[in-house]
Amino acid sequence: MEDLNIKIERLADLILDSENTVALTGAGMSTESGIADFRSPGTGLWEKVNPNEFASINSYVSNTGKNLKFMLEMGMQIFKSKPNKGHKALTKLQKLGKLKGVLTQNIDGLHKRAKTKGVIELHGTANEAICMRCQKIYPITDMINQVLKGNYSPSCKTCNGLLKPNAIFFGEPLHSKALMAAEDMISDCDLLLVLGSSLLVYPVAFYPRKVLQNGAKLAIINIQNTDMDNHAEVAIHEKIGDVLPEVVDIVRAKLSQ
Ligand SMILES: NC(=O)c1ccc[n+]([C@@H]2O[C@H](COP(=O)([O-])OP(=O)(O)OC[C@H]3O[C@@H](n4cnc5c(N)ncnc54)[C@H](O)[C@@H]3O)[C@@H](O)[C@H]2O)c1
Ligand SMILES: [Zn+2]
Repeated sequence: MEDLNIKIERLADLILDSENTVALTGAGMSTESGIADFRSPGTGLWEKVNPNEFASINSYVSNTGKNLKFMLEMGMQIFKSKPNKGHKALTKLQKLGKLKGVLTQNIDGLHKRAKTKGVIELHGTANEAICMRCQKIYPITDMINQVLKGNYSPSCKTCNGLLKPNAIFFGEPLHSKALMAAEDMISDCDLLLVLGSSLLVYPVAFYPRKVLQNGAKLAIINIQNTDMDNHAEVAIHEKIGDVLPEVVDIVRAKLSQ
């Protein structure tokens, strides 16, 4: 416990010393909002379904119905979820002037709903659908309504192309605009705070290495160990919601001293 308190204090001091802190968040950011991640032992989605059969662009096109059933389940979790203590702590940190922005792998939109600014959603969003032929964007509810009416090939009103959630599937490239904005954020930051990511999915897995090469610092809050823990100034293996609000409270207290 003493060890944890020291780490919490250390993280608060790193943020206070930084002029450009960026948070890099993964699915672990949202598990406390009730959205399952992919790789947590026991609860991760990849223990229930085969990643090759779901969420890849090829499997979506060849087996749209089966994929949509899986996605509707995840979509319902997202629909019912609310920003948690961790999301709110980041917004608070930003209001204190100590958080530049957030790079997230999450597609749930919870950072934006928590009113954090400067959020880059690298893997797109589950709150929209996109036409695979003409790229027209629709609210995800348009697509869900078609599926709930029994149409397991939901289609674009303009060109009749197949709709998919506007999230990046395996086998699809990331949007270059988001990628460029992320690279800028990474090269400008002096402290990267990794929250709830296994750091196994690229390009996000590169970012901690990049910031270290630039002479910036790295801090991690993730329940499981990551390959970058040994390179971090501090690595805390606890739940974000149990730790981050306390870190932000210390930052606020020290700023007002
Ligand atoms: N909420 C979402 O939008 C969501 C949900 C599932 C998957 N995904 C997608 O899955 C991919 C998975 O990569 P990833 O690295 O983001 O996730 P991941 O599943 O590979 O890793 C999540 C990590 O978070 C940790 N974790 C879980 N709950 C935590 C908590 N409360 N506090 C601290 N740590 C916690 C786990 O130990 C794990 O190491 C991403 O590309 C993302 O787009 C997104
Ligand atoms: Zn279309």
